[in-house]
Parts: sequence; structure tokens; C-alpha cells
Amino acid sequence: MSKIKGRLYGIGVGPGDPELLTLKALRLLRAAPVVAYQSATDKESVARAIVAQYLPGNQIEVLFHLPRALEPEKAKSIYDNEIQPIADHLAAGRDVVVLCEGDPFFYGSFMYVFTRLSEEYPTEVIPGVSSLMACPVALGVPFTYYTDILTVLPAPLPAEELTTHLLMTDAAAIMKLGRHFTKVRDILHKLGLASRARYIERASTSQQRIIPLDEVDPDKVPYFSMIVIPTKNRL
Ligand SMILES: C[S@@+](CC[C@H](N)C(=O)[O-])C[C@H]1O[C@@H](n2cnc3c(N)ncnc32)[C@H](O)[C@@H]1O
Repeated sequence: MSKIKGRLYGIGVGPGDPELLTLKALRLLRAAPVVAYQSATDKESVARAIVAQYLPGNQIEVLFHLPRALEPEKAKSIYDNEIQPIADHLAAGRDVVVLCEGDPFFYGSFMYVFTRLSEEYPTEVIPGVSSLMACPVALGVPFTYYTDILTVLPAPLPAEELTTHLLMTDAAAIMKLGRHFTKVRDILHKLGLASRARYIERASTSQQRIIPLDEVDPDKVPYFSMIVIPTKNRL
């Protein structure tokens, strides 16, 4: 008789405010015997901190590290190893909830787990409130109307590519700013978009900061920051 496998759940925990968790995510989170989450090496997991108050206290916790900016081949074997403990729990018949900031399938760390394990184990993904939604709301800027085109741009892209896409869109979100902030700010000035661009960090959390673009200290731009360029159209 084949052993019953555990179920894998990827749950979006939202952008930071614990109240922005869905009811479904909360139910699954509380019910699972195993909760897994990733963090940058040596740092506290942001996703776990968001849901900490909801954890019942009797679950097995699995921390995994997915270091960024690695050669693809090196990353693959490190990621395989880091994710193995989740596979072991599933193989032993234990359900595992994997926490993911924002939405799991929108640049989410859960996707690395999903691609490795979803063919072998029954898997369900619960959408989360993405930073893409939370940042414009926190900034108080209506983002897109009617037939507006929205473009999402990762800041590490080369300047020429960022420029090309910004010229072709009505509204944009520029993510993963960190050390790429100055490059992005300069492009926005060159394209005449700086006055419309809004900068926000750690949206929806108690450490949320909204700073005028030209007053941002480029040396202090955290990973959890975004530039939002709302449409100039008004309907
Ligand atoms: C790896 S992506 C994860 C996106 C996430 N899955 C989501 O749906 O929001 C990380 C990027 O999301 C953005 N981000 C996530 N949470 C944020 C927040 N609370 N405030 C501002 N930006 C945030 C930042 O641009 C950050 O570099």
C-alpha cells in the first residue's frame, strides 16, 4: 500500500500588515503541522514575522535560504538542498504550509519550491495581497484606469531596457530597487517622469516610509521598496 503524501500549500502572506492575510491563508496556516519560510541568510524571515501572531506554537518550523545573485547552476544545487527538508516532510505524510511575502506567484520565493515539488505532491497556492497592489494604495495614488497599460520593471535591468519600457507604458511599478535606485532616479528625470514618480518603502508595515524621490538617500534604499508611477490619465 502506498503511503499517503502530505499536501503542499503556498500561501501569500501579503505585504506586511498582518491584517492583509486572507481568511483562507489563515485557516491553512493554523492547521498545518509544518510551516516553512525562507529568509536571506542570517536575517529574520519577513514572511514569518508577518504571521507570527497567528502561529499556534506547536508546529514544526523549517527555515530555508535562497541566496540571490548566484550563477544559475550554483543556485540550482543550493536551492535543491535548501528545499529538501520540505520534501522530506511531505514524503512522510505531513502537510507543509510555505509562507511567501505578497503573492506567491508574483516574483515569489515560493515558486522555487513549487517548481521542484508540485509534480510529486498535491499542491495548492493561495493568492496574497501583492506589494503591487499595496504600494499605490498606501501612496494614495490611483494607479491605472480603463485601457491604461501597466508595466512592472525589476530595477536590476539595464538602463536602456528600463528606458524602452517606460517610454511605452501609461503606468509603472519599479521593484527591487536597493543599490539600483540612483540609476532608476536618473532615468526618470531624463524621461520627465520624476515629478509623477512616488517612492515608498515597507508599505503597510509600521516602518512604512514615503519619501519624495529626490530626498531618498540612495545608500539607504532597502530591498522592500518600490517606485510607483501612476497613470497621468484621469477619467
Ligand atoms: C521578490 S519580490 C516579492 C514580491 C511579492 N511576492 C509581492 O507579491 O509583493 C520583492 C520586491 O517586492 C517589493 N515589495 C515587497 N513588499 C514590499 C513592501 N511592503 N513595500 C514596498 N515594496 C515591497 C520590493 O520591490 C521588493 O524588492
